[in-house]
Amino acid sequence: MFKSTRKGYMIMLCCTVIIMVVFICIIRINFSQLSNFHVLNVKSLLAPACGHIGYIITESKTIDQQIAEIMTLMNCTIPQKDTMYFNETTSAIDSKAIILNYKPNYCLGDTLIVQVEMFNYLGKRKTYGGDFLQARIFSPKLGAGASGRIKDFNNGTYHIYFTLFWKGSVQISIILMHPSEGVSLLWKGRNMGYNYISFTGKFLNKNQEVHTKCGFYLNSQQEKCKYLDRKYREVFYCIKLPAVPCEAFISLNSQNTRYTYLTNANKTLFS
Ligand SMILES: *[C@@H]1O[C@H](CO)[C@@H](O)[C@H](O)[C@H]1NC(C)=O
Ligand SMILES: *[C@@H]1O[C@H](CO)[C@@H](O)[C@H](O)[C@H]1NC(C)=O
Ligand SMILES: *[C@@H]1O[C@H](CO)[C@@H](O)[C@H](O)[C@H]1NC(C)=O
Ligand SMILES: *[C@@H]1O[C@H](CO)[C@@H](O)[C@H](O)[C@H]1NC(C)=O
Repeated sequence: MFKSTRKGYMIMLCCTVIIMVVFICIIRINFSQLSNFHVLNVKSLLAPACGHIGYIITESKTIDQQIAEIMTLMNCTIPQKDTMYFNETTSAIDSKAIILNYKPNYCLGDTLIVQVEMFNYLGKRKTYGGDFLQARIFSPKLGAGASGRIKDFNNGTYHIYFTLFWKGSVQISIILMHPSEGVSLLWKGRNMGYNYISFTGKFLNKNQEVHTKCGFYLNSQQEKCKYLDRKYREVFYCIKLPAVPCEAFISLNSQNTRYTYLTNANKTLFS
């Protein structure tokens, strides 16, 4: 069954893979989820127009340049498709997943490759990428799980690479968290303002704790305390409380608000 070259240390542990592809749309729109998405979940090829942007941030660039480059790079991975009919958006139900390198058994450490083909609600192939997928293998009996590495070909096809880390059967789950059109809307909304999160600053007034509204942008004529992050050149404000010096700041609480930049029509993508 196996070539003998690796016989000495080849552990004859084989994994039977049970494929169970689950597509679920998950409803949750908030700022923190969006940031998780950028950091962890999707790797997209750059759109051609964005190809010239360098990955390497050198010390000689100013912080502003570095931030602008990162933002542009993120912007390039997100399709600018925020106006369209719902029936043209990615449908989990109409999409397909197949195993590219199917074998009855795999060895520990092998890579299992799954190809995902995305379709819209009209049954037409998607022709661009950017869908937010979450791919996992897991074995409930063992309590084991691992995520897959996603490659987005920007043409509606995705390859997902799973390393088989443990012995036994594994199940596969591929979830469409948001269609690319939804991602595009969330990204646009994220850049429209700061209203998704409200901040409350805690100050010490003699022996008493007092609270006041804070934020990156405060629409208020009241006197404000201004806090500057010199390195990242960000300014943060708190409404100044009478007779409490700005230096008496202790800590900050944040809370997700129910604010949305999406229209009701847009929300159909997330329900
Ligand atoms: C992203 O790119 C689009 C189109 O090129 C542009 O209109 C938009 O302002 C950019 N957004 C950000 C946050 O850079
Ligand atoms: C989002 O809402 C705007 C305004 O109603 C609309 O023009 C746009 O097509 C919507 N986008 C999606 C993807 O539904
Ligand atoms: C897609 O949805 C739009 C708006 O509801 C509708 O006008 C259009 O006819 C639909 N397209 C098809 C092919 O059903
Ligand atoms: C998508 O792109 C990949 C890589 O370039 C290619 O192998 C594949 O055939 C393309 N799929 C379609 C449907 O065009």
